Amino acid sequence: MNSILAGFGSFLPQKVLTNNDLSKFLDTSDEWIRQRTGIGRRCIVEDGETTSDLATKAASVALSDAGINAEDVDLIVVGTVTPDFTFPSVANIVQKKLGIKNHCATFDLSAACSGFVYALDVADSYIKLGKAKNALVIGAETFSKILDWKDRSSCILFGDGAGAVVLKAEENSQKGVIATKIFSDGSYSDYLKTSGGVSTTQTSGTIQMMGREVFRCAVELMKSAIEDVLREKGFSLSDIDLLVPHQANLRIISSLANSLDLPMEKVLVTVDEHANTCAASIPLALAKNKSKLEGKNIMLVSMGAGFTWGASFIKM
Ligand code: ACO
Repeated sequence: MNSILAGFGSFLPQKVLTNNDLSKFLDTSDEWIRQRTGIGRRCIVEDGETTSDLATKAASVALSDAGINAEDVDLIVVGTVTPDFTFPSVANIVQKKLGIKNHCATFDLSAACSGFVYALDVADSYIKLGKAKNALVIGAETFSKILDWKDRSSCILFGDGAGAVVLKAEENSQKGVIATKIFSDGSYSDYLKTSGGVSTTQTSGTIQMMGREVFRCAVELMKSAIEDVLREKGFSLSDIDLLVPHQANLRIISSLANSLDLPMEKVLVTVDEHANTCAASIPLALAKNKSKLEGKNIMLVSMGAGFTWGASFIKM
């Protein structure tokens, strides 16, 4: 049994905040942000627009793209660190909003920017174990809600959005998820975190980050994850047609490509359009570039708070 990526969807809030907009209330500039990050704009939710709203919209598009009825979904996993509520989960609310009444399992997964690769690995494992046939794998975030809008070194980096993939069981298929590896090292948990949480401050807190250290570790850890995944199944770097990295920062992405000797033509970049949308960034990049994926060997790779990291090699 294999899990194929059968449908893609994405949703970005309508409200756009450009770098020039930020420079009206922060000591920053379009030039500084573009040079250091490659980011041009980010999308921000309106008051009352929630993570589950974005997730549901992306999921609906992915379901129609896959030609699957919502009622046939038998697993929903959402990678997010910005849920609507402490509980119930975003996945549970998405189930309600999609009108799914079949009692399928739903849960959120907290792995920060690695949330989508982690969620994909979980859903793929369910399918390969015969426990699911049509899984909705979603990354969705309203990161604007946990930013310190006075901290110019972090708030310029992030945005809101959602992306979704329908993962479908297919027997005897050469396509689909070939290998995934996910990792974590809790000794880095203070490098990138929020200043609060339910059991500490009874607030969600805002993001705190050691930017330079995160940058350095991101390149090293994503490189090692890609090499591990390739090695596991006897592939090599030349087998990658398209690298789909977590969209945090163009400099991180190009340093990673450089360290792997991969030309940038083989790398998907969407960070300029929506900044870092955490768990949503990889499925957003996939949905926006759907036409480029057909027949390709793609490598997803991410790194996020924890640190958590992982990579997934997929035949489309
Ligand atoms: N506008 C103008 N100046 C700024 C800004 C800003 N928005 N932010 C910081 N500066 C200033 C600093 O105050 C500093 O000034 P000083 O020299 O007078 O002290 C100067 O710019 C240089 O600051 P650095 O922090 O050294 O700049 P750096 O080149 O490291 O870039 C950045 C900072 C963009 C945060 C970088 O470290 C980075 O991208 N790190 C990775 C962080 C990341 O992507 N996190 C996302 C989550 S993790 C993940 O997704 C992988």
